[in-house]
Amino acid sequence: MDRRDCAEAVSETTKPQSADGEVLLRVEGLTKHFPIKKGILQRQVGAVKAVDGIDFEVRKGETLGVVGESGCGKSTMGRVVTRLQDPTGGKITFDGRDITRLSTGQLRPLRRDIQMIFQDPYGSLNPRHTIGSIVSAPFRLQGVEPEGGVKKEVQRLLELVGLSPEHYNRYPHEFSGGQRQRIGIARALALKPKLVVADEPVSALDVSIQAQVVNLMDDLQQELGLTYVIIAHDLSVVRHVSDRIAVMYLGKIVELADRTSLYEAPMHPYTKALMSAVPVPDPKRRGQKNERILLRGDVPSPIAPPSGCRFHTRCWKATQICATTEPQLVELRPGQRVACHHPENFADQAPGDTVLLSVAQEASALVPDAVLEESAQTGEAQTGPGAKTSTGKAAAPKADAPVEEPAGGEGAATDAPAAEPAAAAEETAREVAAGSEEPAAAAEADEPEAPKASQEPGSEESGSQESTGK
Ligand SMILES: Nc1ncnc2c1ncn2[C@@H]1O[C@H](COP(=O)(O)OP(=O)(O)OP(=O)(O)O)[C@@H](O)[C@H]1O
Ligand code: SF4
Ligand SMILES: [Mg+2]
Repeated sequence: MDRRDCAEAVSETTKPQSADGEVLLRVEGLTKHFPIKKGILQRQVGAVKAVDGIDFEVRKGETLGVVGESGCGKSTMGRVVTRLQDPTGGKITFDGRDITRLSTGQLRPLRRDIQMIFQDPYGSLNPRHTIGSIVSAPFRLQGVEPEGGVKKEVQRLLELVGLSPEHYNRYPHEFSGGQRQRIGIARALALKPKLVVADEPVSALDVSIQAQVVNLMDDLQQELGLTYVIIAHDLSVVRHVSDRIAVMYLGKIVELADRTSLYEAPMHPYTKALMSAVPVPDPKRRGQKNERILLRGDVPSPIAPPSGCRFHTRCWKATQICATTEPQLVELRPGQRVACHHPENFADQAPGDTVLLSVAQEASALVPDAVLEESAQTGEAQTGPGAKTSTGKAAAPKADAPVEEPAGGEGAATDAPAAEPAAAAEETAREVAAGSEEPAAAAEADEPEAPKASQEPGSEESGSQESTGK
């Protein structure tokens, strides 16, 4: 079944609408700045403001989707709220308890309740451990003895995620990407967590496999009453799994709304630009002529983000106030929070300021679909240097084109050591291993990888996409 159809079928029919449920996770003014150090004395000369003051809450049983361009701080936000990285500032409250400054020891019991699923199903499993050993690690490390014994419980978990109990003694290289991600999910669910933060859980997978994993996560949510934060840059995936969606831009949340409002009536110009790049799922509307907003220019650096509204260098509606005054995230419609002086489909927040910034006028282009198709056929470049990164990435993958993970955030590369984001990913793997306590998995993350799963015996899913990881 087509991924979208499949995911749609699940989400539209069975998803509970958790409107005003109890809050499980609350994040207030959260910041994460990575210091940039230079010279022999390693003096701090600046900071990558990866997450720069965000507020949101996640209610019990709901799925919050987080979207945004590469480098906008999604993964950093995920790592900080799960306390795999320390926040620079702000407050994180989980299940009524302030967890912002808990030490590693204090965090240990919390690891049972908060788990993370990673993008890279290849790098996140220790190639030298059997599946049984990998999935049972959380029990060993937390000193938990499930009823009926560990082996029986692990085999039950394997069945739960659609694998065979006989896979217990096999090794990760014997599995395809989709199967490995199922193993990662089984490990994450072993201790019955309350919150699962999934960072691009399907973007390394072949499109046909994405649907299976998305549906599996959805089924597990129904069955186990899980709460999810799902980070993705594929808006089609996010749409079908999320109850509410937060749109991030350069370390900030610019719009936070329920799924229907966000997709049907986006109020932030950036959300609108992202949405305009998503293929229309409704077959009746597919034939209609659409226009897409192509943003020009690169995403600015998170080291020195633009003044005022961070989007003003690329926004076609920007006026003087946008360059000088930062818009606050305020509830403009019930359940729809937006940070913009001139929101879409709403009374202007700065009605006196009507003169467009000249930079803004050139920042984007409205391009009819027909023109895009024509230029795609002739192989011409899109309208601006940023067109591909800005909206191309947000666009859902074409049926025959698996999503690729772009390398690293753009902004930090200039001054921050280039290796740092990748190092951070490894560091994260290490910390997760410590959290789910499997140090070897991380220590060996740079081991040469197993051959492609599609070539392996025991692989049911062909054409698995090798992850680019981070
Ligand atoms: N450990 C680190 N040291 C320095 N900079 C970092 C580190 N980790 C992340 N960054 C920078 O922080 C910014 C946000 O990165 P992050 O990985 O959170 O973005 P993202 O939204 O997840 O991007 P992507 O969609 O590519 O995964 C980027 O500019 C990145 O280079
Ligand atoms: S109109 Fe102004 S405040 Fe709104 S997104 Fe554009 S630049 Fe930002
Ligand atoms: Mg990321």
